[in-house]
Amino acid sequence: MAWKAINIFFLLFYSAAAIDDSAAMLKLANALHPTPLSWSTKNATGYCRWDGVQCDNNDRVIIIYLDRKNLSGTLPFEISTLTKLEHLSLQHNKLSGSLPSLANLTLLRVLFIGDNKFTSIPHDFFEGLVRLQTFDISFNADLAPWFLSSTITQCGRLVYFDAGSANIMGTIPDIFASLPSLRSLYLSDNNLTGTLPASLANPGIEFLHLNNQKIGLSGTIHVLSSMTRLRSVFLQNNQFAGPIPDFSKCQNLAKLKLSDNLFTGIVPTSLVLLTNLKAVILSNNKLQGPVPEFRTNVQANFSGNNFCVKDAHVGCDQQVTTMLEVASALGYPLTFSDSWQGNNACKNWSYITCNEHDWIIAVNFGKQNFTGTLSSSFANLTRLRNLYLNDNNLTASIPESLTKLTQLEVLDVSNNNLTGKIPVFGASVKLITTPGNSLLESNHASTENKVSPSLIAGLLVGIVIFIALLLFLIFKFRVNKRLGRSRSANVHAEWIVHNEAGYHTSNIGNVVIPIEVLQQVTDNFNENNILGVGGFGVVYKGELHDGTKIAVKRMETTAMVTKGMNGFEAEVAVLTKIRHRHLVSLLGYCINGDEAFLVYEYMPQGTLAEHLFEWRERGYSSLNWKQRATIALNVAQGVEYLHNLAQQSFIHRDLKPSNILLGDDMRAKVGDFGLVRNVPVGKYSLETRVAGTFGYLAPEYAATGRVTTKVDVYAFGVILMEMITGRKALDHTMEDKGWMFMHLATWFREDLICRKKISKAIDEALNPDKDTLATIYRVAELAVQCTCPEPRQRPDMGMVVNILAPLAQEWKPVAAGQEY
Ligand SMILES: Nc1ncnc2c1ncn2[C@@H]1O[C@H](COP(=O)(O)OP(=O)(O)OP(=O)(O)O)[C@@H](O)[C@H]1O
Ligand SMILES: *[C@@H]1O[C@H](CO)[C@@H](O)[C@H](O)[C@H]1NC(C)=O
Ligand SMILES: *[C@@H]1O[C@H](CO)[C@@H](O)[C@H](O)[C@H]1NC(C)=O
Ligand SMILES: *[C@@H]1O[C@H](CO)[C@@H](O)[C@H](O)[C@H]1NC(C)=O
Ligand SMILES: *[C@@H]1O[C@H](CO)[C@@H](O)[C@H](O)[C@H]1NC(C)=O
Ligand SMILES: *[C@@H]1O[C@H](CO)[C@@H](O)[C@H](O)[C@H]1NC(C)=O
Ligand SMILES: *[C@@H]1O[C@H](CO)[C@@H](O)[C@H](O)[C@H]1NC(C)=O
Ligand SMILES: *[C@@H]1O[C@H](CO)[C@@H](O)[C@H](O)[C@H]1NC(C)=O
Ligand SMILES: *[C@@H]1O[C@H](CO)[C@@H](O)[C@H](O)[C@H]1NC(C)=O
Ligand SMILES: *[C@@H]1O[C@H](CO)[C@@H](O)[C@H](O)[C@H]1NC(C)=O
Ligand SMILES: *[C@@H]1O[C@H](CO)[C@@H](O)[C@H](O)[C@H]1NC(C)=O
Repeated sequence: MAWKAINIFFLLFYSAAAIDDSAAMLKLANALHPTPLSWSTKNATGYCRWDGVQCDNNDRVIIIYLDRKNLSGTLPFEISTLTKLEHLSLQHNKLSGSLPSLANLTLLRVLFIGDNKFTSIPHDFFEGLVRLQTFDISFNADLAPWFLSSTITQCGRLVYFDAGSANIMGTIPDIFASLPSLRSLYLSDNNLTGTLPASLANPGIEFLHLNNQKIGLSGTIHVLSSMTRLRSVFLQNNQFAGPIPDFSKCQNLAKLKLSDNLFTGIVPTSLVLLTNLKAVILSNNKLQGPVPEFRTNVQANFSGNNFCVKDAHVGCDQQVTTMLEVASALGYPLTFSDSWQGNNACKNWSYITCNEHDWIIAVNFGKQNFTGTLSSSFANLTRLRNLYLNDNNLTASIPESLTKLTQLEVLDVSNNNLTGKIPVFGASVKLITTPGNSLLESNHASTENKVSPSLIAGLLVGIVIFIALLLFLIFKFRVNKRLGRSRSANVHAEWIVHNEAGYHTSNIGNVVIPIEVLQQVTDNFNENNILGVGGFGVVYKGELHDGTKIAVKRMETTAMVTKGMNGFEAEVAVLTKIRHRHLVSLLGYCINGDEAFLVYEYMPQGTLAEHLFEWRERGYSSLNWKQRATIALNVAQGVEYLHNLAQQSFIHRDLKPSNILLGDDMRAKVGDFGLVRNVPVGKYSLETRVAGTFGYLAPEYAATGRVTTKVDVYAFGVILMEMITGRKALDHTMEDKGWMFMHLATWFREDLICRKKISKAIDEALNPDKDTLATIYRVAELAVQCTCPEPRQRPDMGMVVNILAPLAQEWKPVAAGQEY
């Protein structure tokens, strides 16, 4: 009885307290001109049915979508009471006045207010917007100047931040360590100043557009070399200086625009070699050295620089090259670029004196405030007599190679901050090291030619101390390992401990895990720990002492042979080296008798197949479209990585939903590399026995056994179809209707291609709204492209990633040519 009473009380209380959004919606309706179609300015009772408005089951507004409605007027502050709001789109209107505070709209995910005429933004604007993913305030040039504040760190889920042409001033705050999901940062056409913050090294950012600042950002762009996921970098029209950094870790980089800055130095080879590069704009800088030679399909412009020669294919003069090496050690100071023109270092170059045969005989860098190090390349200037480096801020040591300069008369390094031993120069050299350089160790041999007994004694004592120290360190290191004191005690650390206790470690560097460890962590392969059964064998769950969870795949070696896994160890050795955010890591292996065990990282949410086809039985909620799109993107990224591995390309050959594993955040990783074969460099395809799963096999692969990366693209297309329709690649329940209906790829391509039909085949669990439907259609088109009968017509995985990325991340559609 009491229980019932409480329930009734609850219900009453609940309905009485239910908040209604009609007051705020009425204010909004009255503030907008013209009143949007079907909206009422008098009676807000029906606001859930107004155009562009969507409510949840309790009539609370969750979406307001009023893009391109030619609206003027203002936004009332009451909008901040719409506490269930998730999506607010007011892009491309003429709204003006102050933006109201949206602070604490904790459910807001998407906020498009770009291309309007707002006049100010409140200082607490980003406060409490903890779910904000997509934010666009671009093209609001009427805003009063404002600053990017560190409260943006509260929006820890930001993916897309666009505030181009929004009248921002001040510096870019050092906040990016708190924004791990950020992929796109657009701040072009503002008045930002200062340097690039160190936390940009957050490796997630792919699109970084900071071009056209009124005064200009300054400093070096060194931080970019650790931004490994960069795709597009626009920094033109700023005051950036120093050399172009090493981009060798940024293999996705496609567009790099650096024009109209003060970049100096030689264009690095690492940039020229990038394989995905499509456009490089370097014009109007202070770049030096030879003209870079990009591949012909790269759009490149490097006019308006200080290259030594006009033509590509021509190297620089040897003394010019040497002086550029010297400049490199000093971080390529700007002063060297303008005052060192042409390809003859003896033609009016400042700081340099030559003899009548155009040999450099003196270099005077005294009192220039240079920082950096003393280059060993000075040794290539064989006629050098005088070298003045005094009164700078040079660090590190005096290179030994300088002693080879036979003509050297004066070397002045006084008033720097040099360290290390002074090399032994000939008696004719006047070496000036003091004042300054307090850390430079004088070398007695340079003043006395005889070696004194005390020096020998000193040396001996030094060596003894050094060895003692070394022994101590080694000892300490070992003890630390034994005790497992390493704070990042991960799986590997644990196995290393075991290995130290005498277990076998493979000489190729991958980790062999003792069978005893596997027995222990799986509770002796207890049935209760079975995660699933696959074509290769049973997969068990295990947990190491430090709590790390693993998945152990147990196979009979005979099964491996029949499945074509020869050279097991060699294969595993390669696979353990492959690490990517969207690939299931192979952590190690073990062979015990005729059984083999592969140990993978544990994926807590199981496989995509379970979530697509068995969610009801397993009591999961069905995947929504956003999750499916993200999973598709993750898979594409993982496979793209496999296809583009620097040294060798890998083909998965057995992509399917049961090989796609999910983490707690529902992000996906591609697993089961059991069938991966690496493609030798330079070979287009290789013929092997067909392996794979019916329903996902590309026709040319099934017919001829020819494997190319396009085999994976085909399978990926089928997976997209499965995610759209919720139907399996081979649906035996359709058998009686004919084989075409059973084979998803055929049915999808030949029956559903017309859009109207696809809409009927969409997975019922999705129940998409209008916007979602549009992206589903786009993905359906992609699925069709991926499954073209002719491999050449299928896009490559890089292209697939490019198409999916905006769809998965709720990007705004960028109008053609609107790149700023
Ligand atoms: N890393 C993992 N984390 C969690 N569960 C896993 C993991 N790997 C596999 N599983 C579970 O074990 C099951 C069997 O996996 P397995 O890879 O052996 O087979 P499969 O992919 O279904 O088929 P095949 O071996 O023919 O490719 C999976 O369906 C999944 O439920
Ligand atoms: C508002 O409109 C609803 C129907 O949409 C109607 O039932 C209600 O009486 C109206 N209220 C007023 C105050 O006009
Ligand atoms: C947009 O609104 C203005 C008035 O604010 C009007 O003059 C103009 O015709 C409208 N344009 C369109 C395309 O509706
Ligand atoms: C947002 O929430 C914080 C903490 O709950 C509170 O201090 C602040 O006043 C709120 N801001 C607004 C505008 O409601
Ligand atoms: C840009 O910002 C600086 C301050 O950093 C200010 O002095 C200057 O007037 C601004 N320029 C423009 C064009 O807004
Ligand atoms: C290269 O850039 C300069 C200035 O930015 C421009 O004048 C020139 O036309 C460009 N050249 C090519 C080939 O695009
Ligand atoms: C300078 O000498 C070093 C070796 O001492 C050599 O590697 C380098 O290529 C030389 N540079 C030029 C321009 O000859
Ligand atoms: C030599 O260089 C200086 C500046 O570095 C310049 O002013 C001068 O015109 C140059 N002379 C010749 C002959 O090029
Ligand atoms: C070096 O720095 C000092 C102090 O900042 C400055 O006065 C001097 O002009 C600078 N020298 C050169 C050559 O830039
Ligand atoms: C060297 O650097 C220090 C600190 O960076 C600075 O205080 C000093 O003025 C610099 N000295 C010269 C000669 O540039
Ligand atoms: C010289 O270098 C040391 C460390 O290498 C540094 O602590 C010191 O500040 C430097 N001195 C100057 C004047 O730059």
